[in-house]
Parts: sequence; structure tokens; C-alpha cells
Amino acid sequence: MLQIEDLRVELADKVILQHIDLEIKPGETHVLFGPNGSGKTSLLMTIMGYPQYKVAGGRIVFKGKDITHAPINERAKLGIGMSYQRPPTINGLKTRQMVKICAREGIDEEALAERVNFKEFLDRDVNAGFSGGEIKRSELLQLMSQQPDLMLFDEPESGVDMENIHLVGKTIASLLQKDMSFVRNDKSKMQKKMERTKMGLIITHTGYILDYVAADKGQVLYNGVLSCVSNPAEILTCISQSGYEECVRCLA
Ligand SMILES: Nc1ncnc2c1ncn2[C@@H]1O[C@H](COP(=O)(O)OP(=O)(O)O)[C@@H](O)[C@H]1O
Ligand SMILES: [Mg+2]
Repeated sequence: MLQIEDLRVELADKVILQHIDLEIKPGETHVLFGPNGSGKTSLLMTIMGYPQYKVAGGRIVFKGKDITHAPINERAKLGIGMSYQRPPTINGLKTRQMVKICAREGIDEEALAERVNFKEFLDRDVNAGFSGGEIKRSELLQLMSQQPDLMLFDEPESGVDMENIHLVGKTIASLLQKDMSFVRNDKSKMQKKMERTKMGLIITHTGYILDYVAADKGQVLYNGVLSCVSNPAEILTCISQSGYEECVRCLA
């Protein structure tokens, strides 16, 4: 599981996150709301381990290991992966190679790409000239090959057209095992419940993703502080009716 305790983060000598407590248990998906500039991306980048986000207090524990100051590659190997809001273009690196680098053993990139309608992009440089929606599908493809246990999604539906939003939503649900229910264990002829183990943290503005992913908890990040924990659909209704400021006040 992921445990964040009293986290304080500085970026360019400015405090951008403080008093952050967050716990995501195996199988749980949390949704993060908040206005622009409130620190949502910073929180995800800090969990992933980007060194410019300086942890000035508190700690991050993942699978029982203190990773507060662990490098990014170590966190990735431990099972943390991220779909970025604005990933860079990497000229000279084909998407196919990128997927292979991310991949766990035995992954067939053609078959995975097919699932997100992305086969024709495999031999193009990573994100080079991709549209907003294509970038998001490329990010999902990388996560599908990496199969992390904790997945961080930074606005996965932004820039995605209506035609592809369904695909993106279903893919995220599948990555987070939210499409998984009961299976029959044929050997013992008994109903066995499959345990969900994947953890997710999704940043969303529109809430479209909630139509596909049954999120367990919602939180609002406002001015660098997590203000409440509640039912995601309730928070979304509150924000759309009264705005973030009012929402944070009444839920607090
Ligand atoms: N490179 C940077 N240097 C200084 N401040 C930054 C930098 N990047 C982001 N910030 C600031 O950090 C704050 C949080 O930004 P961010 O985490 O991107 O918010 P959100 O994702 O919620 O829109 C904002 O005030 C933003 O301007
Ligand atoms: Mg952001």
C-alpha cells in the first residue's frame, strides 16, 4: 500500500504542498480534484520521485519501504508508474522501443497496441506530433506494458475526443482491475473471489473518468493542502454546483 505522512514539498524555494496525509490500500482507487495550480501534478511528481520536488518534511512509504528519497528508477522497479499530463517528445526513440523498455517479460507490444488502437503509432518517435488524445493513449500503452501496482494518472481524459474517451476509460478500469469481479475456480468447483491488488490515484477536472472507474475515495487539493475525503461523485457535484472554495469549506 501507499502511505504518505505529513508531507511537505518545496519547488523552486516555494512551499507547494503541506500537511499531506494519504493512504491508498491495495485494490483502491482514489480521485484527486482541485483548481489549476493547487499542486495536483506536484503531488504525483513527488510520489514518482522527481528530484526538483524537494521533500522538506514527512515521508512516503510504499509496500512497507520508505521511498521518500529513493530515485525514480527504484520506485518504478518497486511498482509505481505514471501517465503524465504533458509528457515530453523523445526524438529518436520509437514508441515500440519505449514500450519494450517499460515491459514486463512476455509482453507483446503489437497485441497491447491493438487494444488502444495504437499499432500505427508504434514506429513513430515517442509523442512526436501526437495529438492530445494520442499522447494519452501512448501513456496508457506504456502503463499496460509496465503493469505497475500503483498507477498515477494526471488528467488522463484531457484532450481526448468523445470517440476515444470510452476507450481511455475502459483501459484505465482494466489497468486498475476495476473491471474484475468474481471468477469461478474450476479445480475446486468453488466460487473464489479474485482480490484486486492494483492501486490508483487519478487527477480529473471533468470527472468523466468516474463513468468508467468505480473510485473508492475522492479528495480535494486546494492551495497545496488536502481538504477532505469523501465520495468522489458527491465531491464532483459539490464542485460543479458551488465551486472549489465553497466545496472545501462545506466538506471541511
Ligand atoms: N518549475 C516551476 N517553478 C516554480 N513554480 C512552479 C514550477 N512548476 C510548477 N510551479 C508552481 O507550483 C504550483 C503547483 O503547480 P501544479 O502542481 O502543476 O498544479 P496543478 O497540477 O494542480 O495545476 C503552481 O503554483 C505552479 O505555478
Ligand atoms: Mg496539473
